[in-house]
Amino acid sequence: VKAITVALAPCAARSYEIHIGRDLLDTVAAQLAGRRWAARWFVVTDSNVAPLHLERVLARVDAEAVVLPAGEKHKTIDTAVALASSLLARGADRTSGILAVGGGVVGDVAGFVASIFMRGIPCVQLPTTLLAQVDSSVGGKTGVDVPAAKNILGTFHQPCAVFSDLAFLATLPAREWTNGFAEIVKYGAIADPGLLPIMAARSDDLRAGDQQLLGEVIGRSCRIKQQIVERDEREGGLRRILNFGHTVGHAVEAESGFSVSHGEAVSMGMVCAAALSARLGHLGAAHREELVDVLRRVGLPVRIPASLAVSGILERLGKDKKKAGTTIHFVLLKAPGQPFVAGDVPGELVREVIEDARS
Ligand SMILES: NC(=O)c1ccc[n+]([C@@H]2O[C@H](COP(=O)([O-])OP(=O)(O)OC[C@H]3O[C@@H](n4cnc5c(N)ncnc54)[C@H](O)[C@@H]3O)[C@@H](O)[C@H]2O)c1
Repeated sequence: VKAITVALAPCAARSYEIHIGRDLLDTVAAQLAGRRWAARWFVVTDSNVAPLHLERVLARVDAEAVVLPAGEKHKTIDTAVALASSLLARGADRTSGILAVGGGVVGDVAGFVASIFMRGIPCVQLPTTLLAQVDSSVGGKTGVDVPAAKNILGTFHQPCAVFSDLAFLATLPAREWTNGFAEIVKYGAIADPGLLPIMAARSDDLRAGDQQLLGEVIGRSCRIKQQIVERDEREGGLRRILNFGHTVGHAVEAESGFSVSHGEAVSMGMVCAAALSARLGHLGAAHREELVDVLRRVGLPVRIPASLAVSGILERLGKDKKKAGTTIHFVLLKAPGQPFVAGDVPGELVREVIEDARS
């Protein structure tokens, strides 16, 4: 018997920086030129972001652009195949790299294609939504949806760098701000309770583009995600706490045919997770109410629309990717900043909590 070690590059070789600031495009250009992650770059963006920002990006960064149709409904394997074909037609090869300029959909699809195009090419993330800047651009999860469920086909492919340029946020529609707020409140709930009063009091300042405040909340959010991903890159355990609110959230989002947005659904999911935590005797009533109050104050819905059938939501919960065998894992709270994963939540209680949360 022989033991053969496949010694892969140590983690440090895959370390990367998250840059957060205003007008970072010159920094992006300098880093692409200096770091030589790839010989040739392709900007991948979507049909909403392109008219708003593509010219500005291409004026500073030496790259060609591929524009994908915008929206979650296009986060599919067909879009990924079309992107790969388009890259190929333009002469992309193993020395090329992808610059994902967009929200979480662009980041996930572009990252997915980067991870499999010619067995993997580099990807740099330039997130343009608040949600992508605080969450999806960091951590290397990529993927596309299938009709029955979200993010079912995917890979882990860490970016070479993330540049969160606050200038992109100037064109963000109101609903997309609220979507991003849901993930920031999530970080407050699971790891940094100090974010909760900031969000409760200052969401209007964030929407108005207060640069200093944006830098602070995006930075604090990214630091939490960085610390969790460093300790559990492939979601063996700890990383699961990032799914706080996402178990019910994903089911609601899918059951609504995506008319309920990701952030709105996660907000409803956090309300349910907090209610489950309280009903199981882990979370005090005051903490539960504080969380619901913050969600309400930032403009997120805290009730599940009555038009969505409880049975449909429960059925989708059963298909959740986070389930292991027959138990669905819920991330619950003991207090703000003290999450834990519970694998033994009774189905009947889940039903009751979802029924209670419907308006
Ligand atoms: N990979 C991860 O770890 C991870 C984490 C969280 C969420 N996600 C995924 O991210 C997706 C949600 O991300 P999202 O909310 O950014 O969605 P999105 O990419 O669909 O962007 C939301 C909308 O805003 C538009 N847009 C983007 N930037 C804009 C700008 N600067 N100005 C004006 N409009 C702009 C987009 O075209 C789109 O219409 C979901 O598919 C979710 O599964 C992935």
